[in-house]
Amino acid sequence: MQKNLLKESKDSIKLATDYLKHGKLVSIKTETVYGVACNPSNIIAIKKLYNLKNRPSFNPLIIHVNSVKMASDFVDFTEDAKKIAHAFWPGPLTLILKKKKNNLINDFSISGLDTIAVRMPNSQIFLNIIKNFGNPIAAPSANKSGYISSTTAQHVLDSFGSKVDLVIDSGKCELGLESTIIDLSNEPYIIKRLGVLDIKKIYKKTGINVKTERKNTKNINSPGQLEKHYSPKTPLIMNIKIPKDGDAFLSFGKNYIDNHKPSLNLSSEGNLKEAAYNLFDFLRRLDKLSMKRIVVTPIPKHGIGITINERLNRASS
Ligand code: TXA
Ligand code: MG
Repeated sequence: MQKNLLKESKDSIKLATDYLKHGKLVSIKTETVYGVACNPSNIIAIKKLYNLKNRPSFNPLIIHVNSVKMASDFVDFTEDAKKIAHAFWPGPLTLILKKKKNNLINDFSISGLDTIAVRMPNSQIFLNIIKNFGNPIAAPSANKSGYISSTTAQHVLDSFGSKVDLVIDSGKCELGLESTIIDLSNEPYIIKRLGVLDIKKIYKKTGINVKTERKNTKNINSPGQLEKHYSPKTPLIMNIKIPKDGDAFLSFGKNYIDNHKPSLNLSSEGNLKEAAYNLFDFLRRLDKLSMKRIVVTPIPKHGIGITINERLNRASS
């Protein structure tokens, strides 16, 4: 067993808090993907985190909080933002808001921008650690920049080994895809990253309109949404119904070729939520086989299927 791996427990929460206070890096589960957390007011910790991920310095981090009140110390939490947070936090929704002058968030962790992305994750372990720590926590997804995000503690170890100070194993992430990001810092409000939460729900629940730029999903552009992202080392090709010899096959639903090897089915029942839950795990598993290609069967383009297709699209470009 790895020395830096602990199962979720009271002790691991205490240790994580202690580590964060001392500028160390701790991987913690959220409901979307595993994050690798650091103290966003500690420039040394932030630099360590960027180095660990090999993340370009122009790509700002999401700041995690356990309440609107905590976020209001460093962003201008507008009335609309409050309505939206009230409806969807804790949950897979990140809000970009105008930065307030503060001592909590070092400029380096937000790439010197005048806005900050904040999220309250629906993860008891993460919320407990924020509570113990007493301050906001920065946490990008726990993967090397550009590679597939992590949805299990083992994925985090596969990515970073002993280079991350502590990994807390809390099982597999319930949702499996990153949070939806919306920019509320200017009107019209726009979506910056497709995610688990369908933005139509925001309008339904709050009456607040967030514009999609869905004509070409590749245009959705947070600074870090580089075109190639979420990518396995093996070339990935989408919309292939019949795999060839040498292909690793990622399928979906009942009507698939069931005699191809190797292959994995994202959801034999054709359930898109289950497919999202399995997507990064199965991509990592197929990538480990080092086949010629990973080929993916067409995935329906509705609901969470839109986000799955967007992630696969970036993985294949
Ligand atoms: O589900 C998630 O959001 C996960 C978990 C760990 O919370 N986090 C995550 O972080 O996906 P990361 O670093 O992999 O992606 C954050 C994205 C990047 O594309 C970054 O460019 C964008 O958020 N971002 C952060 N601050 C921003 C800002 N002020 N304006 C626009 N985009 C921003
Ligand atoms: Mg990421």
